[in-house]
Amino acid sequence: MMAGYPPLTASPAWNALASHHSKVGDLHLRKLFADDPKRGERMAVEAAGIYLDYSKNRIVDETLTLLLRLADDCGLRARIDAMFSGEKINITENRAVLHVALRAPKEASIVVDGNNVVPDVHAVLDRMTDFSNQVRSGAWIGYTGKRIQNIVNIGIGGSDLGPVMAYEALKAYGDPALTFRFVSNIDGTDFAEATRDLDPAETLFIVSSKTFTTLETMTNAESAREWTLKGLGGDVSAVAKHFVAVSTNALKVSEFGIDVANIFGFWDWVGGRYSLCGAIGLSTMLAIGPRNFRSMLEGFHEIDEHFRTTPFERNLPVLMGLMAVWYNDFFGAETVAILPYEQYLKRFPAYLQQLTMESNGKHVTLDGKQVNYSTGPIYWGEPGTNGQHSFYQLIHQGTRFIPCDFIAFVETLNPVGRHHDILVANVLAQSEALAFGRTADQVKTEDTPDWLVPHRVFEGNRPSNTILLGRLTPNALGKLVALYEHSVFTQGAIWHIDSFDQWGVELGKVLAQRIIPELQSIAKPKLQHDSSTNALIARYRKLRNQ
Ligand code: F6P
Repeated sequence: MMAGYPPLTASPAWNALASHHSKVGDLHLRKLFADDPKRGERMAVEAAGIYLDYSKNRIVDETLTLLLRLADDCGLRARIDAMFSGEKINITENRAVLHVALRAPKEASIVVDGNNVVPDVHAVLDRMTDFSNQVRSGAWIGYTGKRIQNIVNIGIGGSDLGPVMAYEALKAYGDPALTFRFVSNIDGTDFAEATRDLDPAETLFIVSSKTFTTLETMTNAESAREWTLKGLGGDVSAVAKHFVAVSTNALKVSEFGIDVANIFGFWDWVGGRYSLCGAIGLSTMLAIGPRNFRSMLEGFHEIDEHFRTTPFERNLPVLMGLMAVWYNDFFGAETVAILPYEQYLKRFPAYLQQLTMESNGKHVTLDGKQVNYSTGPIYWGEPGTNGQHSFYQLIHQGTRFIPCDFIAFVETLNPVGRHHDILVANVLAQSEALAFGRTADQVKTEDTPDWLVPHRVFEGNRPSNTILLGRLTPNALGKLVALYEHSVFTQGAIWHIDSFDQWGVELGKVLAQRIIPELQSIAKPKLQHDSSTNALIARYRKLRNQ
């Protein structure tokens, strides 16, 4: 599949971009703005309530023309159509990639293996709705007759990061009577701290795992079952009242002892990191209520449609994805900073790390050939303005080139005093400072002694996108996440990689399974690793007196 494309670096648009970069790569944003007084208005697109200002990027009009040509050369249009029509574009796992079906309206039809999956999606959404209503209203009661007050999601990776991010992002829409916790790490501290102050009689666990085999999740789920049974007198029938599961693996769920009636299913065509809109979002729905959850899905869907149908030159995710490729492959940028000026989005960078890096951290093309260009950059970030007082120094004056995405909202959900205008002034100031900097001449006019001038110079010409939305609603969150999902898709299509598998996480899992008994066995194990790993295992055993 897709083997018909020439190697990326041989494509005419790629080569045109390389020589274009040698001509325009050093142009300063100061000059680009001075030469075109309307640049800041011209290089902006608004769609679905998202305003993307991309004018502070190191591009000229021709850059975009060439990037759009690259998208055509790489068959982006066909790739998008293939995804939306349910083709098995995740070729290494022979799976369709249909997170877009999770937010498709009821009347839509998306066929996988001859079956329209949309009715199945809505059947699960309806069950989630019914369950959420029962828990939120107090109709669902625990084993001892008490109502559920605490909800603990147990999952990791995509079965955790989406739920945590969305819970934090939409806290303002949550039911304050319910307490939510998220347990992911195999480190027992995570479970212990999450449950320390909870009453088992009032606690519901959602065991979220696509495969229902993930070591961390299964170990935490077992501890949760023990904790529940210990707290409730040991009657195993209590499990049915205090555990539900979200999984594609009904057999494993029932082996664990969770009632099949309490399984919320999804499908192999939903990747873990793309699963928030389905049953993995159960904790989100419980927190914000079914109506808000559906509004979030509508937000996702609006951007899905925008991505699917809008010409590329006005297509937000396509533009963002192409600019990411421009920096990654032609400027050699190693990273992208995600800087939300919205405290509720504090887990958004962590969420994007899995989305972007598990998707596009690949070293071979779809046809298995080693790439000779860089693929997925490192995504990282923190909310503003906190980051300004920590790592922004390096972005402004360090030796690295770090494109930034600033995310801001016109309205705050907490209108406290003057805070919001100050917050927004800061985000605008940061992108301005990064782009235009401060020259030595400017610094000298401020009575700076000569020796200090170089320290106070800001080179500028450090690029950024500014993404501006109205207000952080469930709907807006859906749009924002979908924007990045499809930007990731765009990047993966250009790099001609499988953005939907994650073989890179397997080896460590296998090796850990071999080491666990070597740490635990009473008899001294015969260690056959490298000398470093052998010595570390021996030392651990010795210090634990084994
Ligand atoms: O370790 C990688 C991974 O497979 C992720 O892709 C996934 O989101 C996570 O583990 C959790 O998997 P599961 O939902 O099957 O427990």
